[in-house]
Amino acid sequence: MTEARIDWAAHAPRLVDAATADRAWYHAVARELVAPGDRLAVDIGCGGAGMALALARHMTCGRILAVDAEPAIVEAARARIRTEWADPRIRIDVELVDIADTGSLRRTVCGHADLVWASAMVHHLGDQQRAVDALAALLARGGRLALAEGGLPARHLPWDLGVGDPGLELRLHTAEDRWFARIRAALPGSRPMPYGWDEALRRAGLDPATTVTTLSELPPPLPPPQQRAVVNRLANRIGRLRDTGLLTPADLHTWDRLLDPSDLVWLGNRRDVFLLEARSVHVGRRG
Ligand SMILES: C[S@@+](CC[C@H](N)C(=O)[O-])C[C@H]1O[C@@H](n2cnc3c(N)ncnc32)[C@H](O)[C@@H]1O
Repeated sequence: MTEARIDWAAHAPRLVDAATADRAWYHAVARELVAPGDRLAVDIGCGGAGMALALARHMTCGRILAVDAEPAIVEAARARIRTEWADPRIRIDVELVDIADTGSLRRTVCGHADLVWASAMVHHLGDQQRAVDALAALLARGGRLALAEGGLPARHLPWDLGVGDPGLELRLHTAEDRWFARIRAALPGSRPMPYGWDEALRRAGLDPATTVTTLSELPPPLPPPQQRAVVNRLANRIGRLRDTGLLTPADLHTWDRLLDPSDLVWLGNRRDVFLLEARSVHVGRRG
C-alpha cells in the first residue's frame, strides 16, 4: 500500500494544465466575487494560479497575493503569471507559505484582504475549522472568504461500457472517497469537521454564508482536446489509486484497457465520453 501523503511537487504540471483548462470557470466565479473597490485579494493554495489570474482580470487596481506551501508549485505559478500577466495596475505576487503557520500567513498578507479564495485546499489541512478561522481573520470589514469545496464528482462514462462490470465509474468514486478518508486521517492534527462548509464559515464569524453551485457540462461527442483531457484526468485518478488496494484487480485491469491507446476499447476511441460536474463555492462575509 502506498503512503497516504500527497507529493504536491509531482502535481505541479497537472495543476497548471487544470488551471488553464478551467479558465472559463475561474473567470465566471471571479466576476461574481470581485466587488468594486477591492484592493487586496489572496489566493490560498494557488496551484496553477488560475484564480489569481482571473481575479487580476476583474480588479481595476491593487494587488493579488497567491500563496502555496510547495516550492515547485510556487515556481510554476510564477512562471505562468510571468507569461500571462503584464498589466502594471495590478500586481500579482506568489509567495511560499504554509497556511498551517498562521503567524507567517498573517505576516505575508500584511494588512486586511477584501477577498480570500481557497479552492480544493482547506480539506488538505488536519484541522479544517482552524484553517477557516485563520483565513477569516485575514479579512477587512465587508471582506469575503470564498471556499471552493465539494459539489458532485465528475462523471464521464456510461454505466455499461461493454467491458468489465457495469458501474465501473461509480466504484471509482467510492474508492476515491475511501482514499480521501485515509489521506485525511494521516494529516498532522487531523480532526473531524462534522458539518458543512457554510457552517464552518459561520463558526468563523462570517455571516451571512451562502453556497452557489455551478454545473459544468460537455455533452458527447467531445471535441478531441476535451476528450484527451478527460482521458488524462481519468489516467491520473487511476494512477493515484493504483497501489492503494482500493480498486479490485478486475476493475484495475478494465481501467488499464480503457486507458491504453493501443487497446481497441481505449476511451479515446469512444463517442459517448462526456463531462458532467458540479462545483460549489461557499462564501462568508465579515460584517
Ligand atoms: C488540490 S490543489 C488545489 C490547487 C488550486 N487551488 C486549484 O483549485 O486548482 C491543493 C494546493 O494546496 C497547496 N497546499 C497544500 N497544503 C498547503 C498548506 N498547508 N499551505 C499552503 N498551501 C498548501 C498544494 O501545494 C496545492 O497547490
